[in-house]
Amino acid sequence: MTATQPRPLTTDDDWWRSAVVYQVYVRSFADANGDGIGDLPGLRNRLPYLRDLGVDALWLTPFYTSPMVDGGYDVADYRDVDPMFGTLADFDAMIADAHTLGLRIIVDLVPNHTSSAHPWFVAALAAAPGSPERARYLFAEGRGEHGELPPNDWESIFGGPAWTRVPDGQWYLHLFDPAQPDLNWRNPEVRAEFEDILRFWLDRGVDGFRIDVAHGMIKAEGLPDVGFGTLTTGQRQVELLGKGRLPYFDQDEVHDIYRSWRPILDSYPGGRMAVAEAWAETPQRLARYIGPDELHQAFSFDFLDATWSADSFRKVVDTALAESTIVGAPTTWVLSNHDKQRHVTRYGDGPDGLRRARAATLLMLALPGCAYLFQGEELGLPEVLDLPDELRQDPAFLRTGESRDGCRVPLPWDGELPPYGFGPAGSDRSWLPAPATWRALSVAAQAGVPDSTLELYRAALRIRRGHPALSADAGGVTWLTTEPGVLAFSRAAGDAVLTCVVNLSGAPVVAGGHGELVVASAPLTRQGDGHLLPVDAAAWFERR
Ligand code: GLC
Repeated sequence: MTATQPRPLTTDDDWWRSAVVYQVYVRSFADANGDGIGDLPGLRNRLPYLRDLGVDALWLTPFYTSPMVDGGYDVADYRDVDPMFGTLADFDAMIADAHTLGLRIIVDLVPNHTSSAHPWFVAALAAAPGSPERARYLFAEGRGEHGELPPNDWESIFGGPAWTRVPDGQWYLHLFDPAQPDLNWRNPEVRAEFEDILRFWLDRGVDGFRIDVAHGMIKAEGLPDVGFGTLTTGQRQVELLGKGRLPYFDQDEVHDIYRSWRPILDSYPGGRMAVAEAWAETPQRLARYIGPDELHQAFSFDFLDATWSADSFRKVVDTALAESTIVGAPTTWVLSNHDKQRHVTRYGDGPDGLRRARAATLLMLALPGCAYLFQGEELGLPEVLDLPDELRQDPAFLRTGESRDGCRVPLPWDGELPPYGFGPAGSDRSWLPAPATWRALSVAAQAGVPDSTLELYRAALRIRRGHPALSADAGGVTWLTTEPGVLAFSRAAGDAVLTCVVNLSGAPVVAGGHGELVVASAPLTRQGDGHLLPVDAAAWFERR
């Protein structure tokens, strides 16, 4: 690891407009106490690594008190740290160090549902139908002669009905696991509680929030059926996510909530921000979550979903940039996160997938706006596809057979044997096992190795941080004419021009006339005045 100098936080309130944010899946990042589970002290120890990687901010997945049915997205106490991850004092020490190193901290807020272990839900179960305790959640009578059928046809995202019956006969709504009851956001008490939770973490110094299921809090009045007409035969409702209309997602009134949160964020100094994990039917509806009176950003999942073709990327980039111009907010690019198969594997796995993943990274990091990285992508980690079923913990696995555990395997840091330095010296525990092939992918194995994926990320992030044509003030994307299957665009700031060329054509192409080569995702050879760009490679060139 290279020596670390403190780097003061910038004083720029608009820091998030062009930031690179690194997602820390706390449970799998670094384990300080040797119990096989990542924790806040482990993260604190590794902050210098993240500072040296060159990112601007960290987004931490939930570390709050939780029975961990859904990896912490089932929160039992929004104002405390689960003992598994440490204490509030550990959080305070971590954020203080992060700020000294110039790293901002974004925490995850889970407002759509609580854990069934949350005192509110425990009280709701103990109280009678129609009580104020039940009115904080979505309880309803069932259908059928004896109320034995769920109140409507809504399906859980994790499979099966979205309703569970309680002993007195009522049903409660859970769009995710039965251990994640949905809150009733039409109840003012719920709104007041979350405004207070926002202030609690803002007072502790957090720089922003990632809003979980930001499209979900308001359900259509009367809880109407989705109806069969909306679906094709055999289609699950979740397949409409981001493509169609559902009565439990993206309701217009959800925007009132964000309009009430924005003044709270704005009342704190230092550019406190919020990013929506929102799924909407169209990019236009997604763009409604962002703007000066709502949230600052919304992830562009269309970029993550783009297939490996020039047309596919060009289309999603153009659409996202057009929307961002209309709403006056930056785009927010992401290739991987804790819910999706890692992009090395999505792009074909093995050497093909890695080559493409490296090229996609250079594409993403040259685009205007903010980029979110998922821990381990800087090491080129693939999805772990062969985890034994009995070790899988994703609640979706039991209900659908699909599991998100393969992208959540603890990071390899160093050493010869699993879990490769995930825990303190001598610890051999990790809550999911790392494959033997990860020895060669550890941080120590890649650091200082010129063509490693880690060094590619470090170089690209260093250039991005210092290059005027990649700064927040630089111009937008100017597409250049190319041969089919090749993407090339320039961005400029004054006389400085940076050109990114990505070869998705299936054959080597010559890239020339763009100036000096600054970084490439694969070795290039000179050809005449230009460079030969291999298949699935990307490169940045500059002219000053
Ligand atoms: C979001 C999270 C996911 C979680 C779900 C329920 O989609 O990213 O991990 O399972 O919300 O909270």
